[in-house]
Amino acid sequence: MPDRTGTHRMTADEMARQREYTDKIRKITTDAISDGHRRQACVVTYGCQQNEADSERIAGMARDMGYTIVDDEKQADLIIVNTCAVRDHAEKRALSITGGYKHLKAVNPDLIIGIGGCMVSQQAVSEKIKRSYPYVDFVFGTESLARLPEIVYEVIQKVKRQFVPNTGEAVVAEGMPVLRKSRYQAYVSIMYGCNNFCTYCIVPYVRGREVSRRPEAIYAEDEELIRDGYREITLLGQNVNSYGKEFDGECDFADLLTRLCRIDGDYIIRFMTSHPKDASEKLIDTMAREKHIAKHLHLPIQSGSDAMLRAMNRHYDYSSYRRLVTYMREKMPDIAISTDIIVGFPGETEDDFAGTLNALSDIRYDMIFSFIYSKRDGTPAAVMDNQIPDSVKSERFTRMLAVQEKIAYEKNIAEVGKTLRVLCEGASKNNPAKLTGRTEGNKIVLFDGDASLEGQFVNIRITQGQTFALVGTVID
Ligand code: 5AD
Ligand code: SF4
Repeated sequence: MPDRTGTHRMTADEMARQREYTDKIRKITTDAISDGHRRQACVVTYGCQQNEADSERIAGMARDMGYTIVDDEKQADLIIVNTCAVRDHAEKRALSITGGYKHLKAVNPDLIIGIGGCMVSQQAVSEKIKRSYPYVDFVFGTESLARLPEIVYEVIQKVKRQFVPNTGEAVVAEGMPVLRKSRYQAYVSIMYGCNNFCTYCIVPYVRGREVSRRPEAIYAEDEELIRDGYREITLLGQNVNSYGKEFDGECDFADLLTRLCRIDGDYIIRFMTSHPKDASEKLIDTMAREKHIAKHLHLPIQSGSDAMLRAMNRHYDYSSYRRLVTYMREKMPDIAISTDIIVGFPGETEDDFAGTLNALSDIRYDMIFSFIYSKRDGTPAAVMDNQIPDSVKSERFTRMLAVQEKIAYEKNIAEVGKTLRVLCEGASKNNPAKLTGRTEGNKIVLFDGDASLEGQFVNIRITQGQTFALVGTVID
């Protein structure tokens, strides 16, 4: 129901109703064990950390419905694909993967297939799936995450397909079950939606307007995680710097961080994403003061050209962004800074692109996430003149990576000889003989050690810098 700010918060009654559906499904799925077959569910995730966090809720709800969570879709009786809409590539992949599940229904006629997340939050996509993907049993937008038990129940009981795209209001639901992938790293969503309408971005259209969780609810969740031994908590929101706007100055994002840092324990707090127009000196001062906050800021610049920033509706220019970086480095000389960059936004000239390359050399980011502009239907940029040809976009993209790789390598070499605190994440996927972990600055470190170090902070002396990682030895 809408509260005084017009946002939607699911009431305790609504949550209780969903738990009733969960219980009814559990009865059905556990009755099925009498046929010797334990019901299994698989959650497949695309996209950002917000989606990873949502998938942990989906898995938590599916577990409570009586499903055992498995990684292999082929063994599942319930497959839920959590999709992304930010770039065309992610949408196409999700659809083609889902197409592959059609054949699984021939093997297991009871298989239920559902699609959630940003892609299907769009009415048009939901309708297209209804029309052209008859083997998809249900679709649920991000607003309907907490209503998953009801939706699955309707599918099972009425043998009727369900389609629930978004209507435009992000929804806060407290007390949802969650099945976390890690026992030491946790995502905590602090807000949903976005009000910024950057002209290239589909997110505000699919995830609706911003709505913040209450600080007490976030505090309670963090406190429980830390009590349970979690070492790293990542606070999530599309624009965390506008957290709490609806609370009339009672608690902004910096205040929230300060409150959370009063929790006792050995842990670090990360957060993303920060919009440069809202990143305040107060936030930077808070980061500098609080030892639990990782000395890392992800601050998407998107472009180094003022003309592009205006066309993107970003509400800052290069010099104000640069001032923020200078202030940050004055307060925290060792802070790691990362960014997002879009190459080939409509109208981007060689000069504009040179501005982006100049920003990379001037700021010297520790890490960049770079994207080729992808046209999203319904956004203003999709209908702008001067769309850039694919060949130009990819040529600029390659040039940009070369500039950044050199900078990242130089910065990583400069870490040699330092001792850094690293949260060990277990065996490296690319190099299983080594352990891997991340520094406070979010840099990957490879080192030798016992697998039992996973989930612990270790001090590592850095012996080698590579382009994408550091190498070191445990010193304690
Ligand atoms: N095309 C390319 N990149 C995009 N991003 C968002 N929308 C698009 C798009 N249409 C990038 C931005 C954002 C990151 C999460 O994804 O850089 O910061
Ligand atoms: Fe998209 Fe801009 Fe909102 Fe980020 S701040 S989610 S880029 S509209």
